[in-house]
Amino acid sequence: MVSSVLQWSIFMSIFSSICCLRRDYFITAEEHWWDYAPSKQNLITNDRTISDRLIQTTEYRIGSVYKKVKLKQFTDGSFRREIKPAPWMGYVGPTIKGETGDVLYVHFRNLASRPYGLHPHGVQYFKDSEGSLYMDGTSGRDKLDDTVPPGYTYTYRWSMLNTFAPTKDDENCVPVGYHPHVRSTKDIDTGVVGILLICKPGTLNPDNSRKDVDREFVLYADTVNETNSWLIDQSLNLCLNPQRCRQLFNQKNEAFITDTLMYSINGYIYGNLPDFPVYEGEKVAFYAMGLNLGLHVFGVQGQSFTFKRKRTHAVVFGIAWFQGLYMTTRNPGRWMIFCKVNYHFNRELYYRLSGMNTHCYSYCYNN
Ligand SMILES: *[C@@H]1O[C@H](CO)[C@@H](O)[C@H](O)[C@H]1NC(C)=O
Repeated sequence: MVSSVLQWSIFMSIFSSICCLRRDYFITAEEHWWDYAPSKQNLITNDRTISDRLIQTTEYRIGSVYKKVKLKQFTDGSFRREIKPAPWMGYVGPTIKGETGDVLYVHFRNLASRPYGLHPHGVQYFKDSEGSLYMDGTSGRDKLDDTVPPGYTYTYRWSMLNTFAPTKDDENCVPVGYHPHVRSTKDIDTGVVGILLICKPGTLNPDNSRKDVDREFVLYADTVNETNSWLIDQSLNLCLNPQRCRQLFNQKNEAFITDTLMYSINGYIYGNLPDFPVYEGEKVAFYAMGLNLGLHVFGVQGQSFTFKRKRTHAVVFGIAWFQGLYMTTRNPGRWMIFCKVNYHFNRELYYRLSGMNTHCYSYCYNN
C-alpha cells in the first residue's frame, strides 16, 4: 500500500514535470512608429537608385517610417512589466512556445485603435479560440475571439495536442505563425505577426529556451505592402507634402505604391537589421516565416545549414510558410542573409532585403 502510494506520487511528480503545462502569455497590440532603415542608409551597396526611393522622405514619398501595430509581451495580467524583445526581433511579435500536451492561455489585450485578434496555425482550438472572422455560423462566446475591440482583453486557449506535435522525423521543435484574421493580409501588412513554437516534451528549459540549441532567432521575410496597412492614412502625413501623397495614394499611382513595398527581414531593409549575435561553433535555430507576398529564397553566405534535417544552401519561403533552419556556425565573421530570387536579384530588390550577420565575437576581438 505504502509502496504503491509512493510509486503513484513518483509517477505523478515525473508526469507533472514532463507533461502538460498550462502556459500563460500576456500580449498587447500597440501602435508605434516603425523605421525600416534607422541608419537612413543602404548598408549593403553603394547603389542608391532604388534604396533612396524607399528610405528618403520627399514631397511625394513617405520614406522608411510607417505607423504600425506591434505585439508586446508582458510578465503577467497587470500588463505593466514588458519582456523586452532582442533588437534583431524588429517588429515581429513575441515567440509563443510550448511542448506537446501543453495548453496555451494567450491573454490578448488590444491597445490599438481598431479591432485585432490572434489566429494560430498548427495548434488545436475550439471555435471560441480560432481568432478568425468569417461567416462560420457561430454566435455568442464563439464569436468573441474573432475580433477584439480596442480596449478589450480576450483569452485564447490553444492546445498542443499529439496530433499537432512534431513527428519523430521532425526536429525537436516546429515553428508555425500567428496573426490576426480580421482581414489577414491587411492585419499582417500592419505588422501584427509572431511565431509559435511546438516542441517535443522535455525540450524547453524553465526559462523557455531550448536545451538542444544555443541560439534561437526569428527570420520573417516578406514584401510588406504599406499602402495595404490599416494605418496608411497616418503614414501619409509623413510626406513633406501630405496632400500630394494622399492624392497619389487615392489614384493608386503605381510608382507610389511600389515605393511602399518593403522587402524586409523582421521589418528592416538594406542591411539595417541588427546583428544576430552568435559565437563560433554554436548550434543555431532560425524560425523562418513567410506570410503575405512573394516568394523569397533564404541564403546565407559563409555558413551552411540544414532544412528538414538535410544539408542545403537555399530554401524557398512561400506564403504562410513556417520552417526551422539549423546551422552550426563555422568560419567566423560578419555574414549576410539575403534573398536569392533571380527576379529580386536582377531588379535590385535583393538590396532591399536586410543583411543578416552571424557575428562571431572571437573574430571581432582578434580584429
Ligand atoms: C498593395 O496594396 C494596395 C492597396 O491595397 C493595392 O492596391 C496594391 O495592389 C498592392 N500591391 C501589391 C503588389 O500587392
